[in-house]
Amino acid sequence: MDTAALMDKAFTQADYAVNITDKQGALIKVNQAYLDLYKFGSEAEVLGRTQKIIRSPKTPVTVYKEMWNTILSGITWRGNLNNIAKDGSEVFVHLTISPVREAGEIVGYMGFSLDRAQQVQLEKELFHANKLEVLATMGAGLAHELNNPLASILLDAEYLRDALAGPGSSIDRPTASLAANSVINGVERMKKVLGHLLMYSRKEGSGGRKHSTLTLAQLIEDSFLFLERQLRSRGIDIAVEVESDLFLHGNRTQLESVIHNLLTNSRDAFEGRKGGKTIRIEGRMDADGRVLIEYRDNAGGIPEPLRKRVFEPFFTTKKDMEGTGLGLAISHKIISEHGGTISCDSANGETVFHISLPGLPKDPPEPDGLIE
Ligand SMILES: Nc1ncnc2c1ncn2[C@@H]1O[C@H](COP(=O)(O)OP(=O)(O)OP(=O)(O)O)[C@@H](O)[C@H]1O
Ligand SMILES: [Mg+2]
Repeated sequence: MDTAALMDKAFTQADYAVNITDKQGALIKVNQAYLDLYKFGSEAEVLGRTQKIIRSPKTPVTVYKEMWNTILSGITWRGNLNNIAKDGSEVFVHLTISPVREAGEIVGYMGFSLDRAQQVQLEKELFHANKLEVLATMGAGLAHELNNPLASILLDAEYLRDALAGPGSSIDRPTASLAANSVINGVERMKKVLGHLLMYSRKEGSGGRKHSTLTLAQLIEDSFLFLERQLRSRGIDIAVEVESDLFLHGNRTQLESVIHNLLTNSRDAFEGRKGGKTIRIEGRMDADGRVLIEYRDNAGGIPEPLRKRVFEPFFTTKKDMEGTGLGLAISHKIISEHGGTISCDSANGETVFHISLPGLPKDPPEPDGLIE
């Protein structure tokens, strides 16, 4: 098959809806995915007409104005908008329109429509994949987290049993009371660890997307639940300085997994390094009422050319450790969806992540309980 015929077939069969227009915006070619997406029977139905045939009244005129201004000035336009299919149903797409040039002159435009429904499904799968990964690290930490309180509960319970043994036993009440309290504390710690495990393993949609009022200090403390021992056993010091009265509104599972991702990245970066190892987390509120989190480690830093790429999906330097390169990409998405920003700096062997999130007034209603 010659190249032109192959290109024609590739165009017609491409998975993305593609359309080509002349410079006035009249359609001169569309592919099968375009016809399917907008529910047209054949190319003949649309050729010569403008994109107005898929315009939805839901999309403000200003969007089209801005789109035309952009492409007329020779720049690619990208955005999400509502279109309408032939049968009147709504089609929500991510649209990219690029000018096509000949000898510097714009001769037409090429549009790609990505069905947002498809994209949203893909994103959901990515979220779930990251959650499974977080769960896997938790699985490793879980044995530690449960073994420790179990061992101390067993000791205390044995002490109480022995102290109570025999008819004439004289029990030392203060010591017995300490032992009983320690049993209660141990059980509560285990309950908390298991509660978190349940919360993480819940599927999105069955409560997993729920937003609630959270305190930053609690959020950070809970993010450590499954990693603290792993970090400490590697000689990593943890310093947390978070103001106690900072409130956020958000999805607990997702926000915890952001901190969890940062912690596992630091843990990996410290691997094989010598010298003092520290993770420092600071939290405060700025004058505009935003909650600022500064997350810092001294695990070597990230060299300049790589730093720009850390939030890219699938960017990883851990091929040998089976890194997916999704940790920071998903964290970035979670923070953006909470109306926040996350950025990365690195200098002198240190890596710093700055997170900014909308805060709540200092005295909001009681934070919600763990099991929602
Ligand atoms: N604290 C850090 N110190 C040094 N490099 C880091 C740090 N955090 C991230 N990186 C770099 O950024 C890359 C991307 O991180 P990201 O969390 O997105 O993926 P990953 O950790 O490689 O894979 P996964 O999250 O699936 O384990 C890492 O591979 C690493 O090179
Ligand atoms: Mg990671």
